Amino acid sequence: MELLKNILVVLHLLGWAIVLGGTLVNLRAPKIAPGVLHGALTALVTGILIVGVSEMSDDLRDPNMVKIGVKLVIALVVTGLTIVGTRKPERVTTGFLGAIAGLTALNVAIAVLWR
Ligand code: HEM
Repeated sequence: MELLKNILVVLHLLGWAIVLGGTLVNLRAPKIAPGVLHGALTALVTGILIVGVSEMSDDLRDPNMVKIGVKLVIALVVTGLTIVGTRKPERVTTGFLGAIAGLTALNVAIAVLWR
């Protein structure tokens, strides 16, 4: 179970790295690369799976549900913005991309600093 959880954490982190990198690299364009949506969805699904695996296993620490709730709300906003930006590219501005990158960075800080 621990190996499964750790593999999911790796995919979770790679997913958010794709969102952050894919957004920042196109800040001046400004546009959302199609891979960013896949990264966000992968990271969202793996995040939910990590919670499930941790809850199911007796050996793994139960996640802090308040923290997960906050992260989930922010992640849903990030994913929503990515979907809107992919469907309506004309709406994407540097500020729009900054919101996606900023909220993703905020969630990294919450994930690591909230203990
Ligand atoms: C923008 C959104 C998100 C970002 C940037 C993010 C980032 C991170 C980072 C950097 C870690 C590693 C830190 C650590 O293991 O202590 C982590 C772990 C984790 N994330 Fe996320 N995350 C996001 C959304 C979510 C969502 C939506 C969920 C669940 C619904 C979730 C569930 C988890 C869980 C369960 C862990 C493992 C924590 C542990 O090992 O105790 N994350 N996340």
